[in-house]
Amino acid sequence: MQARFSDRVVVVTGGGQGIGAATALRFAQEGARVAVVDLDCSEIAPRVALAVAGDCTDAATVGAFFDRVEAELGPVDVLFNNVGQSAREKGGPFVESDEATWRFVLEVSLLTTLRASRRIAPGMRARGRGRIVNMSSDAAQVGDAGLADYASAKMGIVGFTRALARELAPHGVTVNAVGPGAIRTRAHEQIKPEVLARIRAGTPAGFIGEPADVAALVAFLASDEARFITGQTILVDGGRWML
Ligand SMILES: NC(=O)c1ccc[n+]([C@@H]2O[C@H](COP(=O)([O-])OP(=O)(O)OC[C@H]3O[C@@H](n4cnc5c(N)ncnc54)[C@H](O)[C@@H]3O)[C@@H](O)[C@H]2O)c1
Repeated sequence: MQARFSDRVVVVTGGGQGIGAATALRFAQEGARVAVVDLDCSEIAPRVALAVAGDCTDAATVGAFFDRVEAELGPVDVLFNNVGQSAREKGGPFVESDEATWRFVLEVSLLTTLRASRRIAPGMRARGRGRIVNMSSDAAQVGDAGLADYASAKMGIVGFTRALARELAPHGVTVNAVGPGAIRTRAHEQIKPEVLARIRAGTPAGFIGEPADVAALVAFLASDEARFITGQTILVDGGRWML
């Protein structure tokens, strides 16, 4: 494994499980000092430099987390805004949906990204270098039925990524998004087998991806090699949607 991130400080939000955890471990394997904030850090804590249990929808928690990262590890070189989720069991047809659920999904999947970026971008801008990678979803591009609130949040991430990329590009900071398709994580345990079979059938590659498939793309976008790529949303979904 290359060590593209030796001495770099990398933050992964929602890095306790799933795609976030796989990406945190990938960065750590490549030499980074990795900090994770997650509701549950019990599994990741022994494997990264700093793991803080906390809710990314709480501004004070997020502020205190970044204060600790900077004090204990140093300025943040890479921010992976991974945290997010659909309404899961509360999800369903938009005509039956309620505002409390939309607010939950938008808060956890979109505002968390703005909040962490707002905290970290000024330092990156001042230092003239940095990488921000945001978590979108191919559900936003496809417009998956039953996920209107989630698609709204994840397409919001695309717009935010483009606007922030334009603001920060002159300062040596890139901002990109990744849009996974179906990736095998804990969230998938709640999806009915017939729904998974339908997703697989609609995926040209014919299989469900692994968290490592997304981690590889995030690491590339965060690397020095990706210096001329910014404002992009790159799907990692076996061809389910093609931009
Ligand atoms: N798995 C997929 O198929 C898929 C596809 C596209 C996009 N995504 C996106 O990838 C990201 C990660 O999803 P995953 O599948 O790895 O999920 P996961 O449930 O396996 O992991 C999510 C992690 O986020 C943490 N978390 C949730 N809410 C939090 C909060 N408010 N504050 C702090 N931590 C919180 C959880 O504790 C968990 O460790 C999400 O943004 C999701 O929308 C996933």
